Amino acid sequence: MQPFMRHRRLRANEVIRNLVREHHLHVEDLIYPMFVVEGENIKNEVPSMPGVFHLSLDRLEEELEELKALGISSLMVFGVPAEKDEVGSQADHDHGIVQRAIRQIKETHPSFYVIADTCLCQYTSHGHCGIVENGEVLNDPSLRRLAATAVSQAEAGADMIAPSNMMDGFVYAIRKGLDEAGYAHIPILSYAVKYASNFYGPFRDAAHSTPEFGDRRSYQMDPANAREAMREAASDVAEGADMLMVKPAMSYMDVIYRVKERFDLPVVVYNVSGEYSMIKAAALNGWIDEEKVVMETMLSFKRAGADLIITYHAKDIARWLRKG
Ligand code: PBG
Repeated sequence: MQPFMRHRRLRANEVIRNLVREHHLHVEDLIYPMFVVEGENIKNEVPSMPGVFHLSLDRLEEELEELKALGISSLMVFGVPAEKDEVGSQADHDHGIVQRAIRQIKETHPSFYVIADTCLCQYTSHGHCGIVENGEVLNDPSLRRLAATAVSQAEAGADMIAPSNMMDGFVYAIRKGLDEAGYAHIPILSYAVKYASNFYGPFRDAAHSTPEFGDRRSYQMDPANAREAMREAASDVAEGADMLMVKPAMSYMDVIYRVKERFDLPVVVYNVSGEYSMIKAAALNGWIDEEKVVMETMLSFKRAGADLIITYHAKDIARWLRKG
């Protein structure tokens, strides 16, 4: 019997460390979120998200060329409309900002896989993710609006629909809407497990989607709960989701792990805006090594069970992966 284990044998040099490495990050794992806005000649950095821009449609091409050159082929598109109203009319408008952006991307670069975020919060004057009456976010009336939004995004050419609104039955309603409109082949990436997180702050600056009153806790999940995540995911699987998302990612690795253990669908994690901004801020101050911290974070997502990662760091990661 040996008195103790020699773990360091397998850590002696780079080659052996590579041989025993359990998880890897590839550019194919990454989905890049982008914000499109109305207007002309706009490429404005989001103040709380250094390196992330508001892009008008005429400035989209240069971004797409950059992504292509970096080998990033999946995009998630968020629209920031100029006009908002009570019911979010622009969300399912044929010429809405997202519909026009998707059409343009698919016309100019059909090889990009375009995922549409399906929610109402950027489009409603009150900033909630559904229809509001007497200060309450109504569930079933919101489902009709969400299904119509998904169908209009599919019509514009979206390859996948990603509903983020957290109404009950949204996968069911959107699946039914898509099927009836002839889009049975379009998959749904469900934001199945979405917490009412304070890490969304910078995104709400970027998407102009901060709720005018109250918060999202009557529809997004309580950060204290993990078993509830299993119920959320199970219902979305039953309703026909093709992939499951856990969001946010960094503070919810235990949830990622549980979802991966319990369900067989691909697991997608959303490395959200506040997580991005924290790393960026520390890096810009010279307090951490940005590349090393980002790569460690991404590998941790994969170790926890992520198949795919939606991240604002995607372009930087693609550069670092190239460099080797
Ligand atoms: C829309 C939506 C949000 C995010 C993605 N889709 C904001 C929210 O729920 O308030 C957050 C993404 C991020 O923080 O990067 N409902």
